[in-house]
Amino acid sequence: MSSPPSKHMAAVVPAKGQPLSVEERSTPTCGPKEVLIEVHAVALNPVDHVQRDLGLFLDEYPAVVGSDLAGIVVSNGSENGSSTPKPGTRVIAFGSAFFHRGQPDYGALQQYVLVSEDSVAALPDSYSFVEGAMFPMAAVVAWNAWFWAGLSIEPISPSEKKGILIWGASSSMGAFAVQTAKLLGYTVYATASSQHHAYLETLGAARVFDYKRDSVSAEIMGAAEEDGLSIEVGLHATGSQQTSIDVMSRLAKNSQAKLAIAPLVDKDAKIPDNVQTAFVQPPASLTAREERMSWIFGTWLREHLAAKQLVASPHIKVVPGGLQAANQALDELKAGVSCTKLVLEL
Ligand SMILES: NC(=O)c1ccc[n+]([C@@H]2O[C@H](COP(=O)([O-])OP(=O)(O)OC[C@H]3O[C@@H](n4cnc5c(N)ncnc54)[C@H](OP(=O)(O)O)[C@@H]3O)[C@@H](O)[C@H]2O)c1
Repeated sequence: MSSPPSKHMAAVVPAKGQPLSVEERSTPTCGPKEVLIEVHAVALNPVDHVQRDLGLFLDEYPAVVGSDLAGIVVSNGSENGSSTPKPGTRVIAFGSAFFHRGQPDYGALQQYVLVSEDSVAALPDSYSFVEGAMFPMAAVVAWNAWFWAGLSIEPISPSEKKGILIWGASSSMGAFAVQTAKLLGYTVYATASSQHHAYLETLGAARVFDYKRDSVSAEIMGAAEEDGLSIEVGLHATGSQQTSIDVMSRLAKNSQAKLAIAPLVDKDAKIPDNVQTAFVQPPASLTAREERMSWIFGTWLREHLAAKQLVASPHIKVVPGGLQAANQALDELKAGVSCTKLVLEL
């Protein structure tokens, strides 16, 4: 792999609440345990427009946001030479715009980005860069939820008849969580608008319920009884937190249920005694977080991508125009998407 250029183009947040501006900036070099990646695709997440528009989780300007990326390793500053992908390797990575609070070297929306070596996984040729960029954030959310809920990394036997509820399963976080829960051997109950039910079944959902129906709670309860399932774990990806909390409480009956919540927690929601909720987040300690990211990327994603067991989900929409289209694409995401993840090709 040839040396990177000394300058590259980046979609920069110039000041709080300002639209992105595509500008030239210096290409950084890797520090210890960092990897420099030539970015080929960036998938967009709601936090990107929240950072752009509200300045949340940003400490400095100009800032570069963006988390989900795929590209090619240019160099790495690793001493752990055996496991970190070598220069020239196609990879996916979690760009740490959030943890680095907007420091411009670490946001995905640019041609060259620095990432932590624990947040990189090799991308087999069977996946395009656009497909690959769909996985990082969704995998981090699913595993942060499942670890908090106490799930084992080893699949359970289907004969255990255990289910998982995923509320808002046609969202980017929900659709990938469906795949992970299915791979772990759980019977997946999901909610989504009716036009996405067949698609979610292809990802592994056993039953999908329309969250817009007044009878949704009764339908889920009836199905669980019919299937003889015990459902004590859930992921709330999006939608009415009160409804999914109440459904988890009814499903768990006299047991304790755990519902991981991906969006900011609704402080007004009433939590019954038999339901525990928590905002989905990584462990607080840096060491534990690095260990978890290392397992998610270096082991779980690497192995499951190599085995072609993961599908880029939900549906992909490439917004043409590369970095120049980043503002427009973030506006489109902010206006609302349905079972679709927006991706920019660089
Ligand atoms: N905690 C974390 O680390 C973390 C990380 C990433 C994201 N998040 C948060 O997780 C949430 C989901 O993010 P995302 O990117 O997955 O969202 P997304 O893909 O933009 O969500 C779009 C989906 O929301 C669904 N939806 C809208 N209203 C709904 C309702 N009332 N009930 C059920 N589903 C509804 C739509 O379903 P239909 O089209 O089927 O109606 C649509 O498919 C966001 O709040 C995001 O900020 C948190």
